[in-house]
Amino acid sequence: MKLLHIDSAATGAGSVTRELTAAIVARWQDAVPGLSVTYRDLDAEPLPHLTGPVLAKTDVAITEAGEQTLQQFLDSDVIVIGAPMYNFSVPSTLKAWIDRVAIAGRTFRYTENGPEGLAKGKRMVIASGRGGIYGDNSPADFQEAYLRQVFGFLGVSDIEFIRAEGVAYSPQHRTDALEGAKAAIQAPLREAA
Ligand SMILES: Cc1cc2nc3c(=O)[nH]c(=O)nc-3n(C[C@H](O)[C@H](O)[C@H](O)COP(=O)(O)O)c2cc1C
Repeated sequence: MKLLHIDSAATGAGSVTRELTAAIVARWQDAVPGLSVTYRDLDAEPLPHLTGPVLAKTDVAITEAGEQTLQQFLDSDVIVIGAPMYNFSVPSTLKAWIDRVAIAGRTFRYTENGPEGLAKGKRMVIASGRGGIYGDNSPADFQEAYLRQVFGFLGVSDIEFIRAEGVAYSPQHRTDALEGAKAAIQAPLREAA
């Protein structure tokens, strides 16, 4: 079984989402012997923005990096993503990665009956960090709602959010939110069977 571990927080060692993705991946490693883990740090090694030349595939190195990114996503059974809320949405480094994996004909297609996601059968766990408190259905949430929409569109229907929010309210809020989020990490056993 292959797990892809992705971090995107720009906050380094003090990052809430990095702490959570590490805990989630550790839980999977404990539960699934021989689990193969690939790690991508989108802050340390960001992909370029999806500009005209990138889309036109005029740069061989960028095109190859994009294909490798897409293949890594397609090859994964489980994807763990650290996704802090930045300006109500996701970090632009994570958006740049999504721009490489949302590819017509590879991860989705349009049919006579409408769009069809092609990245089926994957499990996704998203560590969500938020300075404020939004809950489940806030109109100001363009982070979790966006991730659910875009990965659902690609065919990933099994998406779980592990959320630490209100972390900017006070150090105590941060500690409590992290503790609560860690306690909410599900045992991945149903997948290990
Ligand atoms: C650049 C930046 C933008 C942010 N924008 C928001 C925001 O729009 N709403 C919010 O609730 N928190 C916002 N925050 C707070 C983060 O969501 C919060 O600190 C979260 O824990 C970040 O995860 P991290 O610690 O892994 O970086 C922002 C933080 C940064 C650094």
